[in-house]
Amino acid sequence: MCGIFAHLNFGELKERNSVDVCMEGLRQLEYRGYDSAGIAGIKDGQICSIKSVGKVSTLDEAVKPQQLQFRLAIAHTRWATHGRACEANAHPQFDQDHRLALVHNGIIENYAKIKQTLVKKGVTFSSETDTETIAQLFAHHYKENLLKAAVNTFSELDGAFSVALIHKDHPDQIVVSSRDAPLVIGINDQTNEIFVSSDTNAFTGQSLRVLFLKKDEIALLSPDGIELYNKKGKALDITFEELCVEECQTATGEFDHYMLKEIYDQPLVLKEIIHSQSDETNHSALFEQLVLTPKQIKNVDQILIVACGSSLHAGYLAANMIETAARIPTRAEIASEFRYSDPIITKNTLVIAISQSGETADTLAACELAIDRGAHLVAICNVKHSTLVRMAPSTILLNAGPEISVCSTKAFTSQVCVLQLLTLYLARIRTFGASEGREFLRKCEAIPHLAQEVLKRAGSIASLAEKYARFTKFFYLGRQQMYPTCLEAALKLKEITYLQASGLPAGEMKHGAIALIDESLATIALCGNHVTNDKLFSNLMEIKARGGPILAFAPDGSESLQQVADDVLYLPIGESDEQNIYIYSIATQLFAYYVAKNLGTNIDQPRNLAKSVTVE
Ligand code: G6P
Repeated sequence: MCGIFAHLNFGELKERNSVDVCMEGLRQLEYRGYDSAGIAGIKDGQICSIKSVGKVSTLDEAVKPQQLQFRLAIAHTRWATHGRACEANAHPQFDQDHRLALVHNGIIENYAKIKQTLVKKGVTFSSETDTETIAQLFAHHYKENLLKAAVNTFSELDGAFSVALIHKDHPDQIVVSSRDAPLVIGINDQTNEIFVSSDTNAFTGQSLRVLFLKKDEIALLSPDGIELYNKKGKALDITFEELCVEECQTATGEFDHYMLKEIYDQPLVLKEIIHSQSDETNHSALFEQLVLTPKQIKNVDQILIVACGSSLHAGYLAANMIETAARIPTRAEIASEFRYSDPIITKNTLVIAISQSGETADTLAACELAIDRGAHLVAICNVKHSTLVRMAPSTILLNAGPEISVCSTKAFTSQVCVLQLLTLYLARIRTFGASEGREFLRKCEAIPHLAQEVLKRAGSIASLAEKYARFTKFFYLGRQQMYPTCLEAALKLKEITYLQASGLPAGEMKHGAIALIDESLATIALCGNHVTNDKLFSNLMEIKARGGPILAFAPDGSESLQQVADDVLYLPIGESDEQNIYIYSIATQLFAYYVAKNLGTNIDQPRNLAKSVTVE
């Protein structure tokens, strides 16, 4: 799972150095992986490349002193799937004679078989990657014609891929193709440049004519423009879309990390969501891009939510909210499981896909399955031009601004907020009268202020984090809406501290997990569900009786917790379970942040992770 970027100059104008353009493109795509990076072009009739292990900035340092000038180039940032993060496995990959260079995003499932066949024919491989197989196979099929070689090569591949390739015999051309892995080509008619990118993030600040490659299409890019072919090599007509990707502010400002900045963005982001999507007149919510009539909503017989990671946790919370308020049977499903399941989907099934990036491969595949079976798809997404948004008939954009830190914070709470408003919208059509709608909306409107109040407690949270950073194992315990909140809290801690953390429904402890309790495992109790707080208190007693240290996150005034907890972090009092989701999520985000800071980990780009996972 990786990011691809390529650049080519055409026309008469003064050319830009493709090296500089590609390096800038890679910086925008680095959220897709930062295990290694590389770039290749053609110089004096030979393939010329530079690769380095680690971030794009490391590649930048290697590239600068070389002062390379390319008229076209392909570039890559890698999240390792097949083979360690080392220079030999970094992209571009080559054929054995170094006649071509290729960058790839995806996984070739039958690479071992193809490799075996090529090895038998005497081909020498020099990496552990599946990608090298494509390069070697291409060279094997190449007989002076790039298109023919592309058709023959790609037809032999199983799996998902997008690729960009250059060949030394065709120094003016780039070959690109994609199957179930996005690739977009952009033309700037003013500057006479062609760009290729894994997504439109890398086109920020530009107005382009763009072409999103469809499944198995092959494009040849050259100074003459773009030629498009189907998988059999038949020429296709091209229809471009106009695209203008606005420039966004992405600096950390006064904060040490993007994660902290994004945590602090939350009150304002939530305020804007609630302000722009509330319908005060009807005591409901407004969704401009939701193309469902009230009649269709009345007929909905079930809602399935598909998502991964933090977005899945937002889905669990939403499923509870929708069932409780709108009384529609709702389930959140792990997208990677859902995509291989045999779900019952009727014509009245609504499928909601939640994804910050809109590029997560498992979520996209789950959506395809849902669409194939006739469901209406609603996409909840933070990226306007993403694959998910383009695929869904109904969309709700988060408008949370770019989330740069790998660990999701503001996108998660924005998803919950949008889904809470969607709950209101559905409930007003199905179950709620005007006064219930008004009351629900009033509680939503209090959320930004409560979020701000939590941030004021950052000092206490930082002190507790310093104390608890010595533990290596954590349980987060909660009940009702605090249970998915615990899952999210544990995920935050795991992602950026590399410590073992699990979120558990507190009542389930006694059925197994309690066996792990000892003085080395810290339990963090999220006491944000007033109905079950007494029960949670009993669960904590059981932990205390076994010598387990306890830190309780609890509402102001719950002094009785001091009898059981070693430490209590007091938080603003939420009136409802829904409000508590934000209060406890923001507090646990800050806790994870400060534990990570104490441990000195790479907070914004934790090891082994990527912001968007575009492979299975
Ligand atoms: C990756 C990220 C997570 C994110 C998940 C789903 O694993 O590291 O933070 O929650 O993908 O991403 P999406 O863009 O679909 O919300």
